[in-house]
Amino acid sequence: MEVLIIRGGTPLGGEVRVGGAKNASLPIIAASLLAPGSSSIEDVPHLRDVDTMCGVLSSLGATVSRSPSAVSVDASDISSVEPPYELVRAMRASFLVMGPLLARMGRVRVSLPGGCAIGSRPIDLHLKGLAALGAEIDMGYGQIEARATRLAGARVYMDFPSVGATENIMMAAVLASGMTLIENAAQEPEVVDLANFLNSMGARVRGAGTNVLRIEGVTELSPACHMVIPDRIEAGTLMVAAAMTRGCLVIDNVVAEHLKPITAKLREAGVSVEERDDGSIYVEMHQRPAGVDIKTMPYPGFPTDLQAQFMALTSISSGSSVITETVFENRFMHVSELARMGASIKIDGRAAMIEGQPSLSGAQVRCTDLRAGAALVLAGLVASGETVVSDVYHVDRGYERLEEKLARAGADIRRVTESEAEQAV
Ligand code: EPZ
Repeated sequence: MEVLIIRGGTPLGGEVRVGGAKNASLPIIAASLLAPGSSSIEDVPHLRDVDTMCGVLSSLGATVSRSPSAVSVDASDISSVEPPYELVRAMRASFLVMGPLLARMGRVRVSLPGGCAIGSRPIDLHLKGLAALGAEIDMGYGQIEARATRLAGARVYMDFPSVGATENIMMAAVLASGMTLIENAAQEPEVVDLANFLNSMGARVRGAGTNVLRIEGVTELSPACHMVIPDRIEAGTLMVAAAMTRGCLVIDNVVAEHLKPITAKLREAGVSVEERDDGSIYVEMHQRPAGVDIKTMPYPGFPTDLQAQFMALTSISSGSSVITETVFENRFMHVSELARMGASIKIDGRAAMIEGQPSLSGAQVRCTDLRAGAALVLAGLVASGETVVSDVYHVDRGYERLEEKLARAGADIRRVTESEAEQAV
């Protein structure tokens, strides 16, 4: 097992580049199952979750190859519709193969993805949508099987604008007969990116980015080439790192439109954020941030995936803040670890009250989930003394060599094995 050792106090500077979006790459790789032939997906980050999704497709009979920046998938010969349990358990996004397999093969059998640290993660909205399209769904022994000779277009209302359910239903509907309407659909940029990829395969998806998707089914699709959008959550994480360390940082390869809620909240906290014409963002900060109140919401609201990082920021603010998590029921796992570094945070149901502190102190802390881990790294960048972050594999699920990017921007951070860390401390 590896750990990150961070010595806080260095302002970040220079320039870093944001990678391709994890949460666009995963559904798009799954969507490549919809057509025989070879699709090429560019700027896909090197992440554990991407490796897992590639492993799922390989287990289904697709030929998957990885170049430094692209993933190629040849889905000509699908020999199985039952991804292995251990891969689905390793990453709930594996469930995104359900829509494509049902649409192309007429059958799919997947293990129930199960919950994770941030919540129970039900799949009722996925199943409701697929059933509306005519799928017969059986559940038992921890497995779900869906069957349909040919899916038929339908009107689907999403009780909640679930990202994954919108994506799964959309991927099933593109080969259904007739028109499908998805109302109260998720509007995240990653959903739009998936729709663009599907349309480049010959699908007819309209309205992506709004809360109503119109999908006119077609009889077949062709493989396509696509470059995924930049990762707005990585970008936001780096923006917060620059703000917390009172740095001056250029962040390349961003879509400013996708970062509006993050930019607005950072400016509210007193951070200077300049959106540049060359597709970069310049973040500058010279004092303690002011306290800000945040309420996570589906896009275009404030993203839940940046809630933990903003809690680290508000932990050192000059005021008090209230952060309300409305999307997941248990996404405050980072609070107790931040408290061990000196943060003053009280939880009341879905709200966390943060009293900003003049400083944090380094400590040995443990990642509980992907974004909580990122928050602990950010706290370590400003804490006095040394912070040792363990269970770093959580961070590696969503950030490609985060410590290298931060070190290039001046941070005193390095990755070592746990035994090396024991010798170093
Ligand atoms: C996607 O997860 C992202 N993952 C998550 O990012 C992100 O936090 C989330 O969307 C919200 O933006 C990927 O795209 C791979 P949801 P997803 O379905 O699709 C409830 C990260 O850190 N719900 O929009 O699983 C659910 O319980 C990860 O990169 C149902 O009730 O999220 C949750 O409370 C974490 N029934 C809410 O909706 C369902 O059938 C939002 O979930 C589905 C979801």
